Amino acid sequence: YVIGVDLGTSAVKVILMDQQGTIAQEVSKSYPLIHEKSGYSEQEPEQWVEKTREGLAELVQNFKGNVADIEGISFSGQMHGLVLLDNNNQVLRNAILWNDVRTTDQCQRIYEVVGTERLLDITKNPALEGFTLPKILWVKEHEPQIFEKAALFMLPKDYLRFRMTGKVHSEYSDAAGTLLLNVGEKTWSQDICDLFELNIDFCPPLVESHECVGQITEEYARQTGLSTETKVFAGGADNACGAIGSGILSEGNTLCSVGTSGVVLSYEERNDRDFSGKVHYFNHGKENAFYTMGVTLAAGYSLSWFKDVFAENESFEALLDGIGDVPVGSNGLLFTPYLVGERTPHADPTIRASFIGMEGSHKKKDFARAVIEGITFSLNESINIFRESGKKIGSVISIGGGAKNDTWLQIQADVFNAKIIKLKSEQGPGIGAAILAAYGAGWDESLQGIADIFIQPEKTYEPIPENVEKYKELFTLYKEVYNQTKSLN
Ligand code: XUL
Repeated sequence: YVIGVDLGTSAVKVILMDQQGTIAQEVSKSYPLIHEKSGYSEQEPEQWVEKTREGLAELVQNFKGNVADIEGISFSGQMHGLVLLDNNNQVLRNAILWNDVRTTDQCQRIYEVVGTERLLDITKNPALEGFTLPKILWVKEHEPQIFEKAALFMLPKDYLRFRMTGKVHSEYSDAAGTLLLNVGEKTWSQDICDLFELNIDFCPPLVESHECVGQITEEYARQTGLSTETKVFAGGADNACGAIGSGILSEGNTLCSVGTSGVVLSYEERNDRDFSGKVHYFNHGKENAFYTMGVTLAAGYSLSWFKDVFAENESFEALLDGIGDVPVGSNGLLFTPYLVGERTPHADPTIRASFIGMEGSHKKKDFARAVIEGITFSLNESINIFRESGKKIGSVISIGGGAKNDTWLQIQADVFNAKIIKLKSEQGPGIGAAILAAYGAGWDESLQGIADIFIQPEKTYEPIPENVEKYKELFTLYKEVYNQTKSLN
């Protein structure tokens, strides 16, 4: 057996998996977000530790087998969050999370101090409010009495693992989201540390995601019922683990995942492609590999907004059932999903959504289909950026809300002009963490070998040429709406 721990933003989920890739046990424990001011989003690291401990204790209690057979444990973590520690590894303040947006000034300063080109050269990513370095600079500026005591920073799941093992590490896939890592060379950037007067020891030692970083301490074993023999593997960022948990492990594999926001993520072998910061470019949880990622801020959120406002008493299933009767292009209705601004490709927090082309004959189902098409067009912007860089996107694995409806899956095939693959059971980052533990424990010679057992396709959707052509035209129009509505905000 292996355990995958998925340290999310609202809850920690722990799963126990056997060698056939079946989930034997699953426990979830939630914790609160702290929003002290508008735009602030924090959590107490101690809550992560406590809730994970509770979850693991419950999982062990329900487990009928021998705990000594649990060979390994690994982690998937919410990215970018800042945990600041003093020189005794004591937490100095609440963690500032990925969705905290107080750091616009610090992002601006990073561009000024490092220079846009050099920043992209080293970190391969733009300075976004969610990333870690802007948060470090914010604390330095606004809480100097705390920063004075800071000796080390950690990312959320790295801190959790430290409390289980007593060992301090980071790994590449999460370090990639800090703006302190030279992503291509896989080292902390001395240049960036120097520019912001940070000692390089402020950054924890780096390991690979599947590397064994220690064993569970006696105290932690006593508290949870786990064995001190269980090996602890470093784990990865939630998006990297989501990729592993969906089998995105070789060139040509792309994932489309629709949650509140939507992510399109593509495997990348090379470390030297130029996306000019238009998409994220991070280290993978697979050794010496990368992935690129674009984000639609309001994906599932656009649909739930539409349902709440216009179809409160209808289920999502009923709402989506209707869209199969509406032709490609929603009878002339076009929706842009910019309800909360847009990340990829515009990185524009001020743009707002629109319906274009309404007429008296339109029904609710025309609007529902237009919303789905608009979300898919936005996701296609990321696919387009990948293709423009020379990547081949032949097929896309679709998970999350976008994989729950046949018509939407066909719309993805037609808009992306790619084969869409739906998986047999929903795979999440926790499975990716479990696969990393299984690989680390030596269950197979490759991550792919384990993924082949854990992940199976259920159905595929081929693009229909006639629809592909229509969507190409509509996509041109869709892109134009951004430019034409920008000045309205
Ligand atoms: C990625 C990002 C989110 C978090 C969520 O850049 O900010 O996907 O990883 O946990």
